[in-house]
Amino acid sequence: MEKDFLTIHDLAPDEVEAVLDLAAHLKAMQKSGTPHRYLEGQTLGMIFEKSSTRTRVSFEVGMFQLGGSALFLSSHDTQLGRGEPIRDTARVLSRYLDGIMIRTYAHETAEELARWADIPVINALTDLLHPCQVMADLLTMREHKGKDLSALKVAFVGDGNNMANSYLYGAAKTGMTLAVATPKTHQPDKAVVKNAMKDAKETGAKLILTDDPAEAVKDADVIVTDTWASMGQEAEHDERKKIFAPYQVNKKLLANADRRALVMHCLPAYRGEEITDEVFEANAEVIFDEAENRLHTQKAIMTMLMG
Ligand code: CP
Ligand code: NVA
Repeated sequence: MEKDFLTIHDLAPDEVEAVLDLAAHLKAMQKSGTPHRYLEGQTLGMIFEKSSTRTRVSFEVGMFQLGGSALFLSSHDTQLGRGEPIRDTARVLSRYLDGIMIRTYAHETAEELARWADIPVINALTDLLHPCQVMADLLTMREHKGKDLSALKVAFVGDGNNMANSYLYGAAKTGMTLAVATPKTHQPDKAVVKNAMKDAKETGAKLILTDDPAEAVKDADVIVTDTWASMGQEAEHDERKKIFAPYQVNKKLLANADRRALVMHCLPAYRGEEITDEVFEANAEVIFDEAENRLHTQKAIMTMLMG
């Protein structure tokens, strides 16, 4: 693997598999009461410029379970928030820590941090990508739908946001069929689509972009949605609610899908917007497995980068 984990696009298909295999192994060992302590004595710095529940807790607990520790570094309380350049922060933190996790706005900020840091940098969400979440989703699909991800059809319905972009990369590397249904005005990032299409040629993945949610969910094994207003888009929330209304994952939309189709959501979920309460609760088991799997997949990523 490369020094950093900023995007699934950087991983070879067999590296994606290796992360998922290790995550499944770490999960089993943890649950059997014989956890691995691969990162004994190591420290992860966690830079947060945006809010988080799952990411913060799962990285912190993950480091603890691996025998190390984690430091929460909010941009409000560090000199980053007062304008200290990222390249200086990167060089300072490299003298104290063994790895850095960053949640930020511009993807270029995570790239710059990785460029200047001597230690591994993990992308824990940017405006462009959320690769740790999609790795956790892939593990969850393996557990619920079988190990051969290339046999699956997945539909992503809603905003062409950081989750949709990372799904394109995840699908392209695993050979699955992915249909992304968004309004024409809110499609996934053009450069991501281009890169993913190139990756898809190598694995046989089929990537479909459409504005028709019913078409996307037809024959899908898994249907994925996410908030219509991502962090940083709060001011557009009301306008977005109108634009995305036809993309709600509800009983009517699911009537077009296979009866056994699962619905996944990275959380936090906004019931009555991108998903109805009824559909959410009917799929609660897989949705909370997905949240749990953040822990196991991130432990695998940290072990591979820092171990
Ligand atoms: N899914 C996810 O990343 O959740 P948090 O924003 O709570 O970390
Ligand atoms: N697309 C969402 C994901 C939250 C985990 C956001 O960026 O806010």
